[in-house]
Amino acid sequence: MLKIALLALSLVAAQSVVAVVPTAVPTVAPRAPAAFTTRLPASSGSVSLPTASVISGSFDGRMVKYDRRGSSGACQEQDETGEADAVFILQSGASISNVIIGKDQAEGIHCRGPCTVTNVWWEDVCEDAITLKQTGSGDVSTINGGGAFHAEDKIVQHNGRGTVRISNFFASDFGKLYRSCGNCDQSNERHVQVTNVCLHDGSEGVGINSNFGDTATLSGISTDSHPSDSSVCCTYEGVSPGNEPDKIGCGDGFSACNYSEGSIGSC
Ligand SMILES: *[C@@H]1O[C@H](CO)[C@@H](O)[C@H](O)[C@H]1NC(C)=O
Repeated sequence: MLKIALLALSLVAAQSVVAVVPTAVPTVAPRAPAAFTTRLPASSGSVSLPTASVISGSFDGRMVKYDRRGSSGACQEQDETGEADAVFILQSGASISNVIIGKDQAEGIHCRGPCTVTNVWWEDVCEDAITLKQTGSGDVSTINGGGAFHAEDKIVQHNGRGTVRISNFFASDFGKLYRSCGNCDQSNERHVQVTNVCLHDGSEGVGINSNFGDTATLSGISTDSHPSDSSVCCTYEGVSPGNEPDKIGCGDGFSACNYSEGSIGSC
């Protein structure tokens, strides 16, 4: 107990003085298909950050639970929140691994450019779990391993452009695993690749704007509602800011949704 308290204190001290320093930690190798876990892992301590922690380089959280308890970044339900209310802000090219994001937070992780998110778990998503703002059409961000629980709306919010890869991920009790922004300032083309993901107790897998040229490629998908799985991929009519995108339809009959409903498994 004391050891954990001391660890947490030293982490708080380290966090509040400087941005997290890159550490030389080997990256976690991608796990074999279907080997992902489905429960929130035990935490090795906890830290409440007064402000968002900005990461450049790579940061290994060693399974410590981070939140924004007692600060402006605590969950404000459906209130407007932004980058400043994140727990972690990743600079372009940054990586984060082995972190639990606790329930007292609003915006999870914000990536300012391409980022790599490995084995990160959200205990209770508030606004969004991850917001991606990469600006290059060739930019790729990777979310591998980990999982998210209780997202009233979206888990991954893709603004900006480029491609997002989500693999070996467990999503439980959520609105959408992924949404390509349907009413951002820029009507960018965005792409998502989803591999080996369990969609448990959610209403929609990915939502993309087919009129913006978005595409989704999905494989190794399993759901708890198998075999009625057209909602694994849905297309929308993207619109300008201030308007709400209309849903066009869902299922593998839409060419922007590259997957086969028949290959969806159970989880
Ligand atoms: C569609 O999915 C298949 C299999 O996952 C992949 O090989 C192919 O490149 C994808 N096509 C497009 C247009 O993304």
